Parts: sequence; structure tokens; C-alpha cells
Amino acid sequence: MLHPTLEVLPNPESRSTEEREKLLVDPGFGRVFTDHMAVAIWTRGQGWHSAALTARKPFVLDPAAGVLHYAQEIFEGMKAYRAQHGAINLFRPEQNARRFNASARRMAMPEISEEMFLEAVETLVRADRDWIPDGEGSLYLRPFMFASEAFLGVRPAEEFTFCVIASPAGAYFKGGKSAVSLWVSDHLNRAGPGGTGAAKCGGNYAASLAAQAEAYEQGCDQVVFLDAVEHRWVDELGGMNLFFVFDDGRVATPPLEGTILPGITRASIIELLRRRGVEVNEESYAIDQWQADARSGRLSEAFACGTAAVVTAVGRVKGRSGDWTIGNGDGGTFTAAIRNELIGIQRGLVEGPDGWVR
Ligand code: COI
Repeated sequence: MLHPTLEVLPNPESRSTEEREKLLVDPGFGRVFTDHMAVAIWTRGQGWHSAALTARKPFVLDPAAGVLHYAQEIFEGMKAYRAQHGAINLFRPEQNARRFNASARRMAMPEISEEMFLEAVETLVRADRDWIPDGEGSLYLRPFMFASEAFLGVRPAEEFTFCVIASPAGAYFKGGKSAVSLWVSDHLNRAGPGGTGAAKCGGNYAASLAAQAEAYEQGCDQVVFLDAVEHRWVDELGGMNLFFVFDDGRVATPPLEGTILPGITRASIIELLRRRGVEVNEESYAIDQWQADARSGRLSEAFACGTAAVVTAVGRVKGRSGDWTIGNGDGGTFTAAIRNELIGIQRGLVEGPDGWVR
């Protein structure tokens, strides 16, 4: 797949060191943005063109742009980390490029070559490297693509905009919680068989928001979705995958059967655990079994994972059929160890499998 050369147009109004440092003190998640963005346009018959790194600025969008009406949009989440000796690490970025294209196929959108995806990400990271926080923080990268053609007929658009923006980030959960609480959504579904659950498209997240609002009303941090057919099997959270750790040392996570996002953090954890000899089963887990196992102590830990959340313990679950606590409600040593190993690999402090860090 041919791709256009990316033109580099530095932002003449980049913020001063002083302004940047002030914003980096406590960036939180997704509120502070860097000075540049990478963009490219795809037009039917012409392919990708007009690729550039430019000043970060608002889009000029026709009110009939496809994305505003039919939600033809996909995105990725990835991070750049400060490593030792001035190096900057990306974690398995080619996996993001591949998943982006898998999402594009499901949403009838054009694919983008892995080289073009990586060039856009890396050029942005190089331009905005001073925005990567020191210490625990990282630079969250958000590649995305949307239908920018002005047309109200319902068909795949003939023009798309690809863009990458960057946002210095601290912990996803406010205050860097040691364990989060979940609200079981037993009537609102995120994804069904044959739907778009496995694609990273904005529509899936839009569909999760009413249930997430319910979770907040119930005093919980995140919503956990069940399968849409029986409302019995645990799928995933609004924006994270789930793992269960049992007292006999086995680990389980819901299988990828089309309704769950194939998380890169999820896949990495499975691989790391299996290399260590841990039995990891990708198997369905019923919500009533979860409650029973937490009560009996058979389930010792549970954790959520994703690029933004990294690895976060689940302490408490609340649903219409009751509440339960996992372990002591504050995470455990298994979750802490896998979190530390993953963070260590991402930051180049621990040797990981070949090719995981770029
Ligand atoms: C991520 O973990 O990168 C996600 O995309 C989840 C959420 C922030 C949307």
C-alpha cells in the first residue's frame, strides 16, 4: 500500500517551556493536549493524500459530514513512555496499527498502511517529546479516523480524515485508586453477536455511556457489561478488559467471540502469564458464579486492563442481585505483580518479549 510523504509544518505558536511545565504538574487523563497533530485525507479514487504534521487546531467540518450523522469513526489508544538514557518507548505500536485496520474493515472504512500509521505516530511523538511527563506519567496517543464527506445518504463515505493527537496523562482513575468498583449492567447492552463489539469504534463507547452514568449514580467507577443474549456471561467494562485470579493459581478472562474488544494489554498479559507457566483460560464466566466465587474465597483477585487504565484491581461489584467484595477489596499481590511487570517492560526497566518495545 503506497502512502504519501508526511509534510512537517511545526507550530509557530507552540507553548513556552513555562506554560508546558505548569500543565504537566497534574495532567489527569485526557484534558491537556500537545502543540501538534498528524493528519491525512483519503478520497475515493485518490487514496491517502495531504499527510502532514501541523499545529493542533480545530477541524473545519461540514454540518453534513458523515461522522456527525452515522458515526463512521474508529480510534486507537496507545502511549509513549520516557525510558532510561533519554529514550522514548512505544509499546507494540504495530499491534495498534493492525487493530486499527481490523476496525476499519468492520466499519467499511479505508485501511492505512502500517508504515503510514507508525510514521504519523512517531513524527508526532518526536515533535511533542517535551510533553511526555516524567515519573509515572506517559503521553497518551489517540489515532482516529472519521467520515468527513458531506453527504446524507446512508453508505460508506467517500472521504475520510485520519488524525493523531497526543495528551500527557497521569492515572486514568482520579487519585490513582488502588481498586475500582463496578456496576453490573443487566439491561443495557454494549454489543451483540454480529455487531461492532470487537471494533474500536466511537459508537461502542457511545452505547456504553448510559450504563456508565448508571454506574456513577450507584457510586461505582465503571460499568461491567454482560452478554446481550442471556445477560449472564461477563463481557468487559465500558473501556477495559477483565481478568479473574483464582485461589488455585489459575487465571481466566472472557473469550474473544466478537463482542469484546481484543485488547493489546489483554493479549500481552495472557502472554506474560503463560510464559511464567500460569494457566490462563479464555473462557466464559457467569455473573452469578463470580458472586459465588468471591463469597467463597475461590476467587482471590480480579483486575481490569487497558492502555489508559494499565492494570487496575477490581475491589467491589454491585448489581441488582447484590454486592460483593473481592479479597480484601483493595487488590492483591498478583494484580500488583503483573502491573509492575507490564509497566517495567513499557518503560524499558524490565526485559520483555522480543519486539514489544519500539
Ligand atoms: C484505552 O485504554 O486506550 C481506551 O481506549 C479506553 C478508553 C480511554 C476509551
